[in-house]
Amino acid sequence: MWDQRTAAPGGSTAGRPQAGGWRRLQAGRMGATCPSLSTFYFLFVVFVVSTIFHCHRRLALVPAPWAYSAQVVVVPRHHPQEGMFTINSKGRLGNQMGQYATLYALAKLNGRPAYIPAQMHSTLAPIFRITLPVLHSATARSVPWRNYHLNDWMEAQYRHIPGRYVRLTGYPCSWTFYHHLRQEILQEFSLHEHVRVEAQKFLQALQATQAWRMTFVGVHVRRGDYIRVMPQVWKGVLADRGYLQQALDWFRARYRSPVFVVTSDDMAWCRQSIDSSPGDVVFAGNGLQGSPARDFALLTQCNHSIITVGTFGIWAAYLTGGDTVYLANFTLPNSPFHMVFKPQAAFLPEWVGIAADLRQVQQSTLPVLGLWGVLW
Ligand SMILES: *[C@@H]1O[C@H](CO)[C@@H](O)[C@H](O)[C@H]1NC(C)=O
Ligand SMILES: *[C@@H]1O[C@H](CO)[C@@H](O)[C@H](O)[C@H]1NC(C)=O
Repeated sequence: MWDQRTAAPGGSTAGRPQAGGWRRLQAGRMGATCPSLSTFYFLFVVFVVSTIFHCHRRLALVPAPWAYSAQVVVVPRHHPQEGMFTINSKGRLGNQMGQYATLYALAKLNGRPAYIPAQMHSTLAPIFRITLPVLHSATARSVPWRNYHLNDWMEAQYRHIPGRYVRLTGYPCSWTFYHHLRQEILQEFSLHEHVRVEAQKFLQALQATQAWRMTFVGVHVRRGDYIRVMPQVWKGVLADRGYLQQALDWFRARYRSPVFVVTSDDMAWCRQSIDSSPGDVVFAGNGLQGSPARDFALLTQCNHSIITVGTFGIWAAYLTGGDTVYLANFTLPNSPFHMVFKPQAAFLPEWVGIAADLRQVQQSTLPVLGLWGVLW
């Protein structure tokens, strides 16, 4: 059983109102005739059951300031016999989605229960209806974990990961881990209703002004820190004007009157670089770095995707499920990126790649800075 003395915050006071109620109850009964033994037992049972019920409810919820509830594991006296799997929680939204889905799939393959770190819960739970239970940090510290490093793609040996209490590590983001569970992964990453409704309102407003446009293409243009990291560390390029023109034209050739919904962490660049003269391009948000949650929801509510670099776009396209155009071969052949990234494990076979123009990076072979830890 769980040890309530070291329970989750908020749990320790759970019994108090019950104790007060019991004292009042007791006093009332004492004033009248002495209760029979069976009445006493009955009240005692009611008290115990209600206390357990309330404690359970309290302990099963993540306390404020987290806005969304989830199960919390309190500190067990004995760690579960069947073992547990968890995973490190590193990077931003896209990285953590990859870690969550990989943990979900590998724990299932290995027949172990999966628990996510509290930090991952606070990143993902405000957006998605995830269901994996959260490991309380006190528990996480007391478990004799065995770390197990993962590549960014599935390997045969991951079907039999040794150890009872395993903490997976790395930045896995590949359909090769979880595509056989696609329906479950889509369910885990289904949006909270209010997040979905907000995105739908935006699209419906577009539809109201342009009623003939029924096909939405979400465009994610990732720049930010990649402007520096991609050429300097990874010997690669970002999506340029030419790529975006080709990608938009790919959809214009295949769908009648598509509308392109652009999200980006560099909207000023997008406004300059995406030709919006055909009147079918909408720049979403306020043009500054939008809320990742809002941008993500908007992309997944579109019908198709155009993505550039990064796991955020890959996840948006995976969840959207329509046609996807991606930037292919965006690093030089001798890039160290190939050690951590296999394109065929990142992009689904049915997605359409458009090769990047590598001339820019070939001209400026800047010295590689000591930025190995930089996230992709
Ligand atoms: C395209 O997306 C819109 C907005 O989410 C949706 O209302 C519509 O049904 C979708 N169209 C198709 C063919 O799925
Ligand atoms: C990317 O490079 C590989 C290897 O050279 C090639 O087979 C593939 O067709 C290229 N992809 C695109 C979209 O050009």
